[in-house]
Amino acid sequence: MPHLTLAILRYQYLRRLNKPRLGGRGIPQENKPCLTAGRLAIDLILAHALRKPRLFLYQAPEYLPSRVEVNRFGQLLKKYLNGTPLAYLVGSQEFMSLVFKVNRHTLIPRPETELLVEETLRLISQCCHKVIKVIDLGTGCGNIAVSLAYWGGRKGLKIFASDISVAALKVARQNAFTHGVSERITFRRGNLFEAFKRMNLAGRIDFIVANPPYVSRADMTVLPESVREYEPSGALYAGQAGTEIQEGIISQAPIYLKPDGYLLMEMGIGQAQSVRSMLEKAGLFRETNIIRDYQKIPRVILARYHPTGSLREPTG
Ligand SMILES: C[S@@+](CC[C@H](N)C(=O)[O-])C[C@H]1O[C@@H](n2cnc3c(N)ncnc32)[C@H](O)[C@@H]1O
Repeated sequence: MPHLTLAILRYQYLRRLNKPRLGGRGIPQENKPCLTAGRLAIDLILAHALRKPRLFLYQAPEYLPSRVEVNRFGQLLKKYLNGTPLAYLVGSQEFMSLVFKVNRHTLIPRPETELLVEETLRLISQCCHKVIKVIDLGTGCGNIAVSLAYWGGRKGLKIFASDISVAALKVARQNAFTHGVSERITFRRGNLFEAFKRMNLAGRIDFIVANPPYVSRADMTVLPESVREYEPSGALYAGQAGTEIQEGIISQAPIYLKPDGYLLMEMGIGQAQSVRSMLEKAGLFRETNIIRDYQKIPRVILARYHPTGSLREPTG
């Protein structure tokens, strides 16, 4: 398709995208949530194919893409229509108004996880300690750790982030560098807290945050194809029940938290009750609270470490 201006190319593909079928398998349901999303996807893919920022599409409608650029766009679009998540195609995802590099070794950050970050930032802003230490377990592309470091706005914020995946940590380190917060975050590879052994962190942590894998064996089979086929299973699957990793975190968190320190974790649909009873059973947490997401699903659980205290009535 030579010598089409950018404006015409965009227009043609937008029209085709909104037809019920675009050859072969048509547009997968999860990749075609609405017209606006389709338009945004086309623009992001096109900008990526041109190696230009998205603004370029609107600033230079008369630009004549080369054959190589048009072919690259066509190939990317085909993959998108066959179900590859947009973030993996363009290699990035926005989270907390920051752009994060992602690849097939990292989960794509979800908007729900912003709730966990926002709540942690709110609690950090109320904290009067000079130095605040945070552990982020299962950091993935580093979206939680980097956002906290970036938006936390405190010189004394020190973050320790772990992941079991070397490949994910590589991406996380790049994201920390891109956003200028490398010196505030220590990345370590390892199984949950094991990553920090010999770092003398026991009893010194103000916040433990985690968006751990929380998909059960049964739920793995009913995940949307775009998730099951493309996102790393090690970032999703937690075990038979789905709450195994949260349970591990709850059992070890008291070793690391200061008295009154916070544990904040993301949960899957229907897990709130069992995670809450794990906290109660541990007998070392109080002020258990649950935050619901935009769909009113209980999504984030938080509790304060209270070494000697009895549990209060939970809320939420
Ligand atoms: C659900 S993803 C979360 C990624 C990122 N924090 C986010 O919010 O999008 C879970 C992450 O935990 C990591 N992970 C899984 N099991 C782990 C373990 N036992 N110890 C440390 N990290 C683990 C995975 O590699 C993955 O990056």
